[in-house]
Amino acid sequence: MVFKRTMFLLLLQNFLVISSTLVSLGYQHHSGHSSLTDKAALLEFKKAITSDPTFALANWQESNDVCNFTGVVCNTRHHRVANLTLNRTGLVGYISPFISNLTELLCLQLAENNFSSTIPLEISSLRRLRFLKLHDNNMQGSIPESLSLLHDLELLHLFGNNLTGPIPASLFSNCSMLQNVDLSGNRLTGKIPPEIGNCPYLWTLNLYNNQFTGQIPFSLTNASYMFNLDFEYNHISGELPSDIVVKLYRLVYLHISYNDMVSHDANTNLDPFFASLENCSSLEELEMEGMSLGGKLPIFMGQLGVNLTNLVLNGNQISGSIPPSLGNLSKLTNLNLSSNQLSGTIPREFSGSSNLQQLILSHNLLNGSIPKELGNIGGLGHLDLSHNSLSGNIPESIGNLVQLNFLFLNNNNLSGAVPRSLGRCIDLNKLDFSYNRLTGSIPPEISSLLEIRIFLNLSHNLLEGPLPIELSKLQNVQEIDLSSNKFNGSIFDPILNCIALRLLNFSDNALQGPLPDSLGDFKNLEVFDVSGNQLSGKIPTTLNRTRTLTFLNLSYNNFDGQIPSGGIFDSVTNLSFLGNPHLCGSVPGIPTCHKKRNWLRFVIIFSVVISISAFLSTIGCVIGCRYIKRILSSGRSETVRKSTPDLMHNFPRMTYRELSEATGGFDDQRLIGSGSYGRVFKGVLSDGTAIAVKVLQLQTGNSTKSFNRECQVLKRIRHRNLIRIITACSLPDFKALVLPYMANGSLDSRLYPHSETGLGSGSSDLSLIQRVNICSDIAEGMAYLHHHSPVRVIHCDLKPSNVLLNDEMTALVSDFGISRLVSTVGNAGAVEHMGNSTANMLCGSIGYIAPGTT
Ligand SMILES: *[C@@H]1O[C@H](CO)[C@@H](O)[C@H](O)[C@H]1NC(C)=O
Ligand SMILES: *[C@@H]1O[C@H](CO)[C@@H](O)[C@H](O)[C@H]1NC(C)=O
Ligand SMILES: *[C@@H]1O[C@H](CO)[C@@H](O)[C@H](O)[C@H]1NC(C)=O
Ligand SMILES: *[C@@H]1O[C@H](CO)[C@@H](O)[C@H](O)[C@H]1NC(C)=O
Ligand SMILES: *[C@@H]1O[C@H](CO)[C@@H](O)[C@H](O)[C@H]1NC(C)=O
Ligand SMILES: *[C@@H]1O[C@H](CO)[C@@H](O)[C@H](O)[C@H]1NC(C)=O
Ligand SMILES: *[C@@H]1O[C@H](CO)[C@@H](O)[C@H](O)[C@H]1NC(C)=O
Ligand SMILES: *[C@@H]1O[C@H](CO)[C@@H](O)[C@H](O)[C@H]1NC(C)=O
Ligand SMILES: *[C@@H]1O[C@H](CO)[C@@H](O)[C@H](O)[C@H]1NC(C)=O
Ligand SMILES: *[C@@H]1O[C@H](CO)[C@@H](O)[C@H](O)[C@H]1NC(C)=O
Ligand SMILES: *[C@@H]1O[C@H](CO)[C@@H](O)[C@H](O)[C@H]1NC(C)=O
Ligand SMILES: *[C@@H]1O[C@H](CO)[C@@H](O)[C@H](O)[C@H]1NC(C)=O
Repeated sequence: MVFKRTMFLLLLQNFLVISSTLVSLGYQHHSGHSSLTDKAALLEFKKAITSDPTFALANWQESNDVCNFTGVVCNTRHHRVANLTLNRTGLVGYISPFISNLTELLCLQLAENNFSSTIPLEISSLRRLRFLKLHDNNMQGSIPESLSLLHDLELLHLFGNNLTGPIPASLFSNCSMLQNVDLSGNRLTGKIPPEIGNCPYLWTLNLYNNQFTGQIPFSLTNASYMFNLDFEYNHISGELPSDIVVKLYRLVYLHISYNDMVSHDANTNLDPFFASLENCSSLEELEMEGMSLGGKLPIFMGQLGVNLTNLVLNGNQISGSIPPSLGNLSKLTNLNLSSNQLSGTIPREFSGSSNLQQLILSHNLLNGSIPKELGNIGGLGHLDLSHNSLSGNIPESIGNLVQLNFLFLNNNNLSGAVPRSLGRCIDLNKLDFSYNRLTGSIPPEISSLLEIRIFLNLSHNLLEGPLPIELSKLQNVQEIDLSSNKFNGSIFDPILNCIALRLLNFSDNALQGPLPDSLGDFKNLEVFDVSGNQLSGKIPTTLNRTRTLTFLNLSYNNFDGQIPSGGIFDSVTNLSFLGNPHLCGSVPGIPTCHKKRNWLRFVIIFSVVISISAFLSTIGCVIGCRYIKRILSSGRSETVRKSTPDLMHNFPRMTYRELSEATGGFDDQRLIGSGSYGRVFKGVLSDGTAIAVKVLQLQTGNSTKSFNRECQVLKRIRHRNLIRIITACSLPDFKALVLPYMANGSLDSRLYPHSETGLGSGSSDLSLIQRVNICSDIAEGMAYLHHHSPVRVIHCDLKPSNVLLNDEMTALVSDFGISRLVSTVGNAGAVEHMGNSTANMLCGSIGYIAPGTT
């Protein structure tokens, strides 16, 4: 029994195998196609491929079984190619018409390659085709009418190509199976054929980003399974399609942004459209931006589908207030009502939309304050209320929005302080509070905002106080704009920790002090603007290292010295330095710095200079002696009258203690010179200025008043080649002059560098040009002393050790009038006995010019 049954089964099996083979043979014979023609067709297909970078077709060989070809799936029954999937393999070429020989093909996927032919007309031979995915290629030409022969077609994905022309109406002549059509991202034109109403099962129609015109055909109401309808970025006109969507109650996505549609009643009434959505309870995304739609938001907005997540209505002309019922849309994640004409206040009820991630209400006419309830929307990542008329304080509750990435409250009328709670928003990427009326200082909590990696903009407010050091903790920030506030204090070095900075704008504040020298360490700085402050000092030369810098504005400060060269400084114009009267340099429109005259000019004036210096230093002395003799004979000093007016003005006060500290208690280590008049110490003031303190050796006596008076007179002597007396310190038993410190020492030490060690002279490093310059400098200084100075002074002790050299090797004559001081002080109340003191002056070293001075 068992045997019989087995035999029967075997026979049956054989019969089935044979009959199926017969059927398959018969079929093959009937159509003239087989797996062999499939292989031939695919090998032809391969020939049309010009590039196969991923070797996707490497095993497409004559010797291999066609069903083993990469991307090929055969049906088991006939061993014929059923699916051909070669998506995203980098293939370049065209689609061979031989593909039409794959008559059993159900699914053709050649997406995301670089096929650049037209869609072959022969594709209509693939009568069984259900899935055609040619998207994201470079297909040209129009959609062939012959596609209408593909009666079984369910899915047609041609998006992301370069197709042109209209959709052939015949495509929808027999589309009883068509469900999914995506033609987005082409250049298709014309109207959407009303025949689309023949496709009752259509549930996705995506025509995004083409050039369609006309209206949405009413026949679309037939497609009652419609789930995803996208017409964005076309030129579709007419009223909002309320009569259509009212039937499409299964809609989940409705995207109709950027068309030429209007609302009802001549673009004044949005109610009919929103009402038609009443039964679209599954709606999740409603996007209608950029269409200049007019009307008001209906108060029943809150009844839009319970599942609504995206409501995007920006870029229209919607007026009226924001309906509080929106707060009933509890699943809303993205609400964008920006760039409309919405007025009134921001409803507190928004906090009901507790899943909101983006709330964008910018560019409207909203007023009132920011409701503190917004702080309850814990998942908010993007809050943009900018460009409205909001007033009042920024609520502390904003600190509850710990997931906030973007916070824009700029261009409102907000007042009060920057809330300290902001420090809890540790994920902030961008922060913009600019153009408000915020007051107070930047809270130190800002240092918690380590994530700020794009920008921090607090410009155009009323913020004050010093720049918080905590700014330096924002290591990822790319742009800091604090311009147009009332910040004071200095720009500190640690700001350089913000290594990612591309823009730094501190303009129009009250910042002081110098720019940090290390500014050049910013590797990415592109824009640097500190204009309109009170910054001073030299422009840091290091700024020339920042290769990325393209905009520099240092205007309207108190910078001095030379504008550096190299880098940005080679391409800037004087517009970068306006309103800095003490700057000089080679930038066009800026005064050039006083440079050493060139050699040619020296040669020309060489002899003149020599004679002038000789004349003035010798003959001048003789004239002076005659003059003094005359004074002696008349018994009256002209200088007295000249020296008496304007005393004690603008005399920087400097105490004995300050001088003592500056010189380390008049430490012998700081001694840089000594002589009969006293001793000279080098010192550094607390502000970093290097000075020389000349402590005079005096006889005793209550001479403070006359000493000060003499100092005043000498202080008025100002010349490039005369050492300037900064101030004097006078106590009954201590008299000192404070002079600028000259880095290059005296001419004496330069002429005889080794004289102290007894190695003799002749090894001076001064060039001929430098020597000539020094001669000329001395002559100019002496000429001034003798002819133009407010008090006529005769030096009488001109010698190399009294000629000092500054950084630029300019010679400055020192010690003029010292003997006058000494004598004045020495003879208490000697103003009346000026003749006497003048005599002392003459007695100093009349006619004595030390050898080697010229
Ligand atoms: C297909 O390839 C596999 C190995 O990849 C091989 O074992 C099999 O025999 C091949 N089938 C045919 C029909 O050639
Ligand atoms: C062919 O592809 C379609 C769509 O991807 C799929 O449903 C079908 O199962 C595939 N057929 C075979 C035989 O793999
Ligand atoms: C592309 O093909 C792969 C298999 O080769 C498949 O997993 C993937 O889903 C396909 N992608 C598309 C967009 O069809
Ligand atoms: C295969 O297709 C090509 C082009 O469409 C056609 O010329 C050829 O006759 C077809 N071969 C067979 C066997 O059908
Ligand atoms: C596509 O192929 C063309 C040449 O046929 C080539 O010019 C183009 O750069 C390719 N595009 C891509 C995205 O590979
Ligand atoms: C439409 O296609 C179906 C098969 O998909 C077919 O049965 C029907 O006859 C076709 N109708 C027309 C008018 O072509
Ligand atoms: C798209 O097609 C047009 C002609 O229809 C052609 O001029 C243009 O270069 C094509 N664009 C691309 C990216 O191939
Ligand atoms: C809707 O479909 C029916 C058949 O299902 C058809 O008779 C009718 O004309 C279609 N309506 C439109 C507007 O196309
Ligand atoms: C929504 O459905 C209800 C019940 O089917 C119906 O009474 C109402 O008219 C529909 N609303 C719209 C706008 O069609
Ligand atoms: C809302 O969404 C949920 C989850 O996606 C789903 O189960 C529910 O059916 C949807 N409600 C409507 C009315 O479509
Ligand atoms: C929100 O919905 C509830 C009940 O669904 C209703 O009572 C309340 O008035 C609605 N709120 C607004 C602001 O419309
Ligand atoms: C920057 O300025 C310094 C000092 O003037 C100079 O030595 C350096 O060569 C300059 N750098 C560039 C890149 O020009």
